[in-house]
Amino acid sequence: MTIQIRPPRQSDASLLIDLFKKLDTQTSFMLFEPDERVINVEQQTQRIGEFQNSERRQMLVAKSAQQMVGIVVGNGGNANRNRHTLVIAIGVDLEFSGRGIGFRLMNALEAWARDTHFHRLELTVMRHNERAIRLYKKCGYRQEGIKRHSLKVNGDFVDELQMAKLI
Ligand SMILES: CC(C)(COP(=O)(O)OP(=O)(O)OC[C@H]1O[C@@H](n2cnc3c(N)ncnc32)[C@H](O)[C@@H]1OP(=O)(O)O)[C@@H](O)C(=O)NCCC(=O)NCCS
Repeated sequence: MTIQIRPPRQSDASLLIDLFKKLDTQTSFMLFEPDERVINVEQQTQRIGEFQNSERRQMLVAKSAQQMVGIVVGNGGNANRNRHTLVIAIGVDLEFSGRGIGFRLMNALEAWARDTHFHRLELTVMRHNERAIRLYKKCGYRQEGIKRHSLKVNGDFVDELQMAKLI
C-alpha cells in the first residue's frame, strides 16, 4: 500500500478529524482524552488553511488512497528568543504502526524545519511510551530532563521526558 506524506489539503478536514478521534481513543499517549478535542469540519478546514504556506508552523499527514493514517505537527516559538525552536507532536494509527510511517513523518518535518532555518526541535513524551521514545532516539533526539507528574492520565500522575534535537 502506498502511503504519501504531504501537507493536508483543506478538503482533508473531515478525514483529519476522524484520525484525531481514532488516535485519542487507541492509546492514552496523546495529550487529549477521547472526545475532549472538539472541532468541526469548518474549524478544521480553517486550521489547515492557517498552516498552509506558514513559515512558523507545519502539519504533515500520512495518507493512503482512502484514509489518513498519521500526522505530525510542528509549531514554532512566538517570541524572538524562541523563534528558532519547533515544538513537535506526532501520531500514527495503531493499525499502521511499525511500518516506518512515524519515521518518515519525523524526517519530512525535519527537512522542512531545516529549510525554514529552525535550530532546535523539541517534544515531550510519556515516560512509559517506549515505542515513541525509540522512534525519537532513532531520529537523533536526546533526553534532556524529566517533567515530573506533568500529566494526569486516568487519575494517575505521569512523568514526561523532555527530548530535543539540534539541527
Ligand atoms: C509512536 C509512533 C508515532 C511511532 O510511529 P510508527 O509509525 O509506529 O513508527 P515506525 O514504524 O516509523 O518505527 C520507528 C521506530 O519506532 C520504534 N518502534 C516501532 N514499532 C515499535 C514497537 N512495536 N515496539 C517498540 N518500538 C517500536 C522502533 O525503534 C522503530 O525503528 P526500527 O523499526 O528501525 O527499530 C506511533 O506508534 C504512535 O502514534 N503511537 C501512539 C501515539 C503516540 O504515542 N504518539 C506520540 C506521543 S509523544
